[in-house]
Amino acid sequence: MFKKVGKLLLGAAVSSMLITGIACASPIVIKFSHVVAEDTPKGMMANKFKELVEQRLAGKVEVEVFPNSQLFSDDKVLEVMLLGDVQIAAPSLSKFERYSKKLQIYDLPFLFKDMAAVDRFQSSPAGQQLLSSISDSGILGLGYLHNGMKQFSASKPLKVPADAAGLKFRIMSSDVLAEQIEALHATPLKKPFSEVFTLLQTKAIDGCENPYSNIFTQKFFEVQPYITESNHGVLDYMVITSTEFWNGLPDDIRAEVKKALDESIAYGNKISEEKAVEDKESIIASKRSEIITLTDEERAQWVEVMKPVWKKFENNIGKELIDEAYNANQM
Ligand code: SIN
Repeated sequence: MFKKVGKLLLGAAVSSMLITGIACASPIVIKFSHVVAEDTPKGMMANKFKELVEQRLAGKVEVEVFPNSQLFSDDKVLEVMLLGDVQIAAPSLSKFERYSKKLQIYDLPFLFKDMAAVDRFQSSPAGQQLLSSISDSGILGLGYLHNGMKQFSASKPLKVPADAAGLKFRIMSSDVLAEQIEALHATPLKKPFSEVFTLLQTKAIDGCENPYSNIFTQKFFEVQPYITESNHGVLDYMVITSTEFWNGLPDDIRAEVKKALDESIAYGNKISEEKAVEDKESIIASKRSEIITLTDEERAQWVEVMKPVWKKFENNIGKELIDEAYNANQM
């Protein structure tokens, strides 16, 4: 008797679950993995994306954000994205050269004079086309996100390139950046972002290159007594997903997720402008690190020593593309 009633109840529960199948379906989970702190342009963009998606697609999509290399380093994240372990990431553009040599353009020293020029190039048809330059690997570029112009920091004051000779610099995994440091007669070391503070603190390296937002939030300024405002390169990101995951989303959900992503990128880009100023001010206020401003003559020396690096990568990138990016400075 009890068995019969139990079966009936179970049957009723199953059919009610089938009828309300959609309501019972588990939400799509988007894991967003990144390597920086939460109060950075990328950290705040990721959190805004979570907020917008979960507001607009409540019960249908959940976003889990993993900051500070908690889940994966950038060198690993593309690999695991293809395995379906992460759905969205935003590695710096310097981390993609294994997948597309054209993206090396973003590491050429002194190519862009400021973030407005970077923005103009990225919005141009040529810049937009670069977003699909890694699609053969199954990775889709969904948009660019700004951090800012890079500054050199070191254990000694760097006013002219000769001051950097003999020093060891941490760089991201990019051959262009390696050539750039070698042009200074210094030694480049490709190391994950999560190791940089300890490498500096233990004096295993002497210097590095970062935008103010990373120098501040990673506390590099506490272990680098000198920062040279060199603005010699850009640190920007490509927001990526796997083609398989993206194409597998229902059309209406994909459209809503993309809308939320575009809005959160616009938000992150605004934050990047504010942080470039605020984080620099906080570093100055800390009195832990001196910010060195270059004279025009000193800056010209850095350009003269580092710009020949362009020639070495011209075949990989294409001269026309380099010219197009350079011309974005003049608009
Ligand atoms: C970042 O994502 O901003 C960190 C890039 C790096 O490895 O320096």
